[in-house]
Amino acid sequence: MLLKKSALLSVLVMVALLFVFSFSAMAQDEEVEIFSWWTGGGEEEGLNALIELFNEEYPDVEVINATVAGGAGSNAKAVLKTRMVGGNPPDSFQVHGGAELVDTYVETGLMEPITGLLEEWGVKDKFNQQILEMSSYEGEYYSIPVNVHRSNAMFYNKEVLAENDVEPPTDLASFKEALAKLDEAGVVPLALGDTNKWPAGQIFETLLVATLGPDGYNGLWDGSTAADDPAVREALVHFNDIMEYVNDDHSALTWQDATQLVHEGEAGFNIMGDWAEGYLKTLGWTPGEEFGWMPVPGTEGSFVVVTDTFGLPKGAPNPENAKKWLKTIASKEGQDTFNPIKGSIPARLDADESKYDAYLRDTMEDFANDTLTPSIVHGSAAPEGFITAMNDTINEFISTGDVDQAFEKFQENHEEYVQ
Ligand code: GAL
Repeated sequence: MLLKKSALLSVLVMVALLFVFSFSAMAQDEEVEIFSWWTGGGEEEGLNALIELFNEEYPDVEVINATVAGGAGSNAKAVLKTRMVGGNPPDSFQVHGGAELVDTYVETGLMEPITGLLEEWGVKDKFNQQILEMSSYEGEYYSIPVNVHRSNAMFYNKEVLAENDVEPPTDLASFKEALAKLDEAGVVPLALGDTNKWPAGQIFETLLVATLGPDGYNGLWDGSTAADDPAVREALVHFNDIMEYVNDDHSALTWQDATQLVHEGEAGFNIMGDWAEGYLKTLGWTPGEEFGWMPVPGTEGSFVVVTDTFGLPKGAPNPENAKKWLKTIASKEGQDTFNPIKGSIPARLDADESKYDAYLRDTMEDFANDTLTPSIVHGSAAPEGFITAMNDTINEFISTGDVDQAFEKFQENHEEYVQ
């Protein structure tokens, strides 16, 4: 009898344990942790729309939206790296195609190839191949591009320009004239918020494209353009001239703060990636009505590419759910849900253009015709060490104004991290 009782008890314990284990396994299966730095200023809205679509497609899978605030991943990238290296990866994460993905995570063996998934879903040929290639390494693909942003974009407050009789500039010379005119009128000519350094580096990279030309700029990364090319120095000279016209408190502001200066009518121009367009829309503006746009003067015909991608880390806790996330972002519907809000264009070529506003349709056209050049500060052109060194150099240059010193440092950084 005693034996029977204890046997019954152990059966009950086993059943209870089985229940607990299967429940926790089930609970774990029902999650997917997505890591990004899209926390506000228009970025969050795009991500939320994507999560909503995912929830409709997979109602049983809960998205753990893991974000670390800070534009361009200024804080998120370090957190992510610690997690990846420490064997605690999220299920999928935002990463720029090119060096940021390949050097940091693929070459180090931390990512799963996903070529088979692209084939299985029949989407490989649906993407712009130049963009998709930025996610490849030694014949395999490692991430899926959800968008294409333009980093050499400039936005302006139409009313501020009109009130001050300033025409949208057509080249760097007329840009400087426009800046001087706004300055005289007591308006902040160019809004900048570089507390995280990269927005100043981003202006500089677009000026490099302007002075070197797109092919010359691309040559910096394949060895065909030397870092001591006089056009690099010329870009620094333009940068120095333009910095005379930024708001005094630029080093205390974020990119969103700077875009807001334009929105509030305190500033005329803002050079920023077109996530600023997404932000201006969430602030209630309509492209073409309150604000106009153009490529950064001197960069017409060049499209500086920023592409956000998501992949599958090795050891992801919920790989099957991560694949579902990847399938959603790779789909036409996923791309057409996210990008019109985010202020980016789809990486797929079969988008439903009617979902995109006037700015984005214009950008799609430029993207199809321009020469593509990968962004430095947004991770695609050069390794992380170079980005940090270049942003530091530019930051120091803003306070010293010493062109030759900055030129020399640029060359040193290039030699150390790129060549
Ligand atoms: C970029 C990213 C964009 C946007 C921007 C500002 O690096 O690719 O999607 O998030 O930073 O945060």
